[in-house]
Amino acid sequence: MVARMSSWRDAALREMGLGPIWHLRGRESEHSLVAEPIRSVAAGGFGIGCTAPPALPPMAEPPVRVSAPQASQPALVPPRVPAGAGARVQAPATAEGAPPPVAGRSERAARIAALDWDALESDIRACQACVLCERRKQAVPGVGDRQANWMLVGEGPGAEEDQRGEPFVGQAGRLLDNMLAALGLARGRDVYIANAVKCRPPHNRTPERSEVAACLPYLDRQIELVQPRLLVALGRPAAQALLDRELAISAARGKRFERRGIPVVVTYHPAYLLRNPQDKAKAWEDLCFARRLMAETAR
Ligand code: URA
Repeated sequence: MVARMSSWRDAALREMGLGPIWHLRGRESEHSLVAEPIRSVAAGGFGIGCTAPPALPPMAEPPVRVSAPQASQPALVPPRVPAGAGARVQAPATAEGAPPPVAGRSERAARIAALDWDALESDIRACQACVLCERRKQAVPGVGDRQANWMLVGEGPGAEEDQRGEPFVGQAGRLLDNMLAALGLARGRDVYIANAVKCRPPHNRTPERSEVAACLPYLDRQIELVQPRLLVALGRPAAQALLDRELAISAARGKRFERRGIPVVVTYHPAYLLRNPQDKAKAWEDLCFARRLMAETAR
C-alpha cells in the first residue's frame, strides 16, 4: 500500500512536470517568476512549465463520498448529462444566517438571469450593487470557452486582474494555468474561469458575504450560459458562494457537492498553494477527483 501510494505520487508528480519545488525569494519576487528550486518535491508542486499528463493516475485512496438528502431545488439548468454515480451533497437553496434579502434583489436577479453574454458583461462592467465598484479600475467578468465542460470559480480579482480585466492573470493565475495543463486543459479551451466577485476587494481582502451575495446572480447567469459539466471552487470564498454555506476547504475536499444539479468540487486557491506548496499534492488529488467526476458525468 505504501509502495503503491508512493508510486502513484511519483507518477503524478512526474506527469505534472513537477521537479523541484519553486521557492520564491522573498516578497519582492511575489509577482515575478523568479524562483529557486530548493529541494525535490515530496509534497508536490505545480512547477513552472508542467506538462499535461498523458493519463490520469489512479487515486491512492478513494475519495470520501458523503450521503446527504437531496434537497428539492429548482434546477438552474438541466444538467447536460445525467449526474454521475455517488452520493451528493446538495447546496441548500438559501444559506443559514445569510444576509437579509436586499430590497429589489430578486427583481435584479431575475433581470440578470435573462441577460445574454454581451448584456451580462456590460451589466457587470456597469454594476454598482456593492461598495466594491467604488475602487475598482474595472470589473472582471470572466474569460474562456463559453461552452466549456469545466468552469473554475475563484474569489475575486487582484491588482493585475483589476488592471487587465481578466481573471487569474497574476502569479496565482500562472499556477492555475499549470494546474490546468496538468489536467490536459488550457484557459479558453474547454475551461471557463470566473470569480465569486467581479470587482477587486481593496487590498485584496476577502470579499464580504454581502458582496458575494450581490455578485451571485452574475455567477449564476454565467453558469447558466456556459452549462459546464463540472464546477471547481478555488478556495473558501468561492466554495461558500457556490454552496451557500460556511465550510472549510480541508473538510470539503474530496466530496461531490452540487449547485443546482451541476457537480461542484472544492480545492485550494492557487494563491494559498503559492504560500503553502506542501499542499499542492492535495490539490492534485482534488483535480484527479474532479477529472474522475467529469468522466462519470460523460457516461
Ligand atoms: N485570485 C482570484 O481568486 N481570482 C483572480 O482572478 C485572481 C486571483
